[in-house]
Amino acid sequence: MASEPTTVTITGGGGQIGYALMFRIAAGDMLGPDRPVRLRLLEIPQGMRAAEGAALELQDCAFPLLTDVEVTDDPLTAFNGVSVAMLVGARPRTAGMERGDLLAANAGIFGPQGAAIGAVAADDVRVVVVGNPANTNALIAAASAAPHVPADRFSALTRLDHNRAVGQLAEALEVAPGDIADVVIWGNHSATQFPDVSHAGLADGRSVLDALAERLGGRDQATAWLDDVFIPRVAKRGAEIIEVRGSSSVASAANAAIEHVRDEQLGTRRGRTSAAVVSRGDYGVPEGLVCSLPVVSRGDGEGYRVIEGLDLDARGRQRFEASVAELVAERDAVRALGVV
Ligand code: NAD
Ligand code: LMR
Repeated sequence: MASEPTTVTITGGGGQIGYALMFRIAAGDMLGPDRPVRLRLLEIPQGMRAAEGAALELQDCAFPLLTDVEVTDDPLTAFNGVSVAMLVGARPRTAGMERGDLLAANAGIFGPQGAAIGAVAADDVRVVVVGNPANTNALIAAASAAPHVPADRFSALTRLDHNRAVGQLAEALEVAPGDIADVVIWGNHSATQFPDVSHAGLADGRSVLDALAERLGGRDQATAWLDDVFIPRVAKRGAEIIEVRGSSSVASAANAAIEHVRDEQLGTRRGRTSAAVVSRGDYGVPEGLVCSLPVVSRGDGEGYRVIEGLDLDARGRQRFEASVAELVAERDAVRALGVV
């Protein structure tokens, strides 16, 4: 076992996703069975008791890998020496709130948290943003951590969308989720995202498109199912969960966040995955936007790198561009606030 613990900070440690994350992280599900973990939970004063209660439960689990837990409402304490920061706590949208109000409220959270990361994080820090609107919150945090932390250390979660797409295909094709590779989520973690199966394949060597055509009676039927069922279902799955469950996804979001960090740190296990990363102009996405793209990690400390050169047909490109346009509009709205 490595002797020096890795500091992992969860913001919103008193909330639902925080609760679903911390026990799995402490059990070694995220960084592996050999890396001890020091957990820091950041909350606002109203959330402190819930986070403190969760910390008591962590103690009661006596996880061998968990060296200590600290609960705080001070970002400089929470991010001191952090190597893995998971920014979950965010301002939810409430009745009567416009999208601009939501962006402004979250800028007031992710700006100071990014600045605190810039001030006190470890040299190897990597940050994943889960709290919505995740892509633009990551953009704000990255801008606020500059110049102390390179922007490419920041990412936002679209692994949940990726997993949702795999889950839908597995059901439609009656195969195991583990038999499906190389789905891509392009764009924003929002209803404009483009879940793309055009490069996806099955363990038996068939392309997902061929398998869908075989199952549904032809290429046109496969295209119609993708357009009318699959894409809207995946893109609006968050809203479906809210409607059915009565609140937004928790365990699946925490699972996706763990897989995002695990693959970034230890390497992608099977082919590529999807993550919202800082664009360097990849696929025509304006530089600096935090956009979901096909990525791979070698687990060598360099984090996710974008897989280049995948083709998108005209309709796919149109969908992707619409989602990028939404990201541009979000960036422009926070730019107008003077935040980035
Ligand atoms: P929750 O309301 O249960 O918990 C959020 C917690 O964050 C609360 O305890 C709150 O006190 C805390 N918080 C608020 N502001 C904070 C701040 N400035 N610093 C520290 N903590 C703060 O919500 P949840 O279900 O855990 O969801 C959290 C976020 O994750 C939401 O924004 C949700 O929309 C988002 N989400 C994202 C995805 C994704 O795939 N990217 C999926 C599901 C949910
Ligand atoms: C999800 O995709 O489940 C969430 O982002 C939905 C939400 O608005 O919290």
